[in-house]
Amino acid sequence: MLKRKVEEFYDRVAQDYDSKEHPFYLSDKLKCDATWHLIESRLPEDKTSPVLDAGGGTGLWTVRIAELGYDVVLADISQGMLDEARANTRAKGCLSRVRFVKADIADMSQSDDNCFSLILAEGGPLSYCEDVVSAMKGLHRILEPGGYLIGSVESKYTGARWKHRSRTWDEIKEALYSGTARDKHTDVCFTCHMYSSETIERALGQAGLSVEKIYGKQILPGLLGQERFDELAKAVPWEELLAMEQFLQDDPAVIASAWEIGFVARKELAAS
Ligand SMILES: C[S@@+](CC[C@H](N)C(=O)[O-])C[C@H]1O[C@@H](n2cnc3c(N)ncnc32)[C@H](O)[C@@H]1O
Repeated sequence: MLKRKVEEFYDRVAQDYDSKEHPFYLSDKLKCDATWHLIESRLPEDKTSPVLDAGGGTGLWTVRIAELGYDVVLADISQGMLDEARANTRAKGCLSRVRFVKADIADMSQSDDNCFSLILAEGGPLSYCEDVVSAMKGLHRILEPGGYLIGSVESKYTGARWKHRSRTWDEIKEALYSGTARDKHTDVCFTCHMYSSETIERALGQAGLSVEKIYGKQILPGLLGQERFDELAKAVPWEELLAMEQFLQDDPAVIASAWEIGFVARKELAAS
């Protein structure tokens, strides 16, 4: 049921998802610019195994990685997002490097063990999985030993602040105590599982992954408010905002301001 609602929602928003008119355009750009170096520096040297972009949406990361010469599998539950990703990939001239798969990232049973050199789950797709540890275990199984799982989940502190997740005091309590909210969009409503740095770190560990880094994403828009951040982005050089975001992203004192919680985790090399 949750899967169908999420699919319906993303099918509906797919065509406008990358629009510069999108209210989150600048804060998403900040997230992307602050995340890319973490991904780029962990790309495998060996390009023989593909990268999996799990919940890859319109192909933001797939395109960048395919442009560097990697083969990428983009798996997403929404056909609308996959169609946009295909168009974006074609426009960048790297269609031949990408395979698009309509799949639920909580059930990757069709993929072989250890077949991906790197797995991304950026932009919160794991927040839409009912059992995050089981979904992560599935990703762990198909990741090569020594490979990274890099991604992000929704933050429960943002879930408590945002009215489309928590309107009433009961909903705020639910968000903060259990990390669960009902995402309420105009005509579709679905459950979102949200995390603190501790709860996501624990889930990664339970799935057998070693955690290298837990960090905040979109801290500046969270700290200053989106309106103020958007105003600043018109007046202040982008590099300065990005430098500030990177300065703040590892500071545990401000992680509760972050819109998402990012993680870099690794599958251990098999013991010899
Ligand atoms: C917020 S978008 C992020 C897209 C992309 N990863 C990015 O960072 O721009 C979340 C994506 O996850 C997909 N998604 C959500 N739940 C999923 C699931 N269980 N399996 C596969 N894709 C899922 C949605 O369809 C959507 O495309």
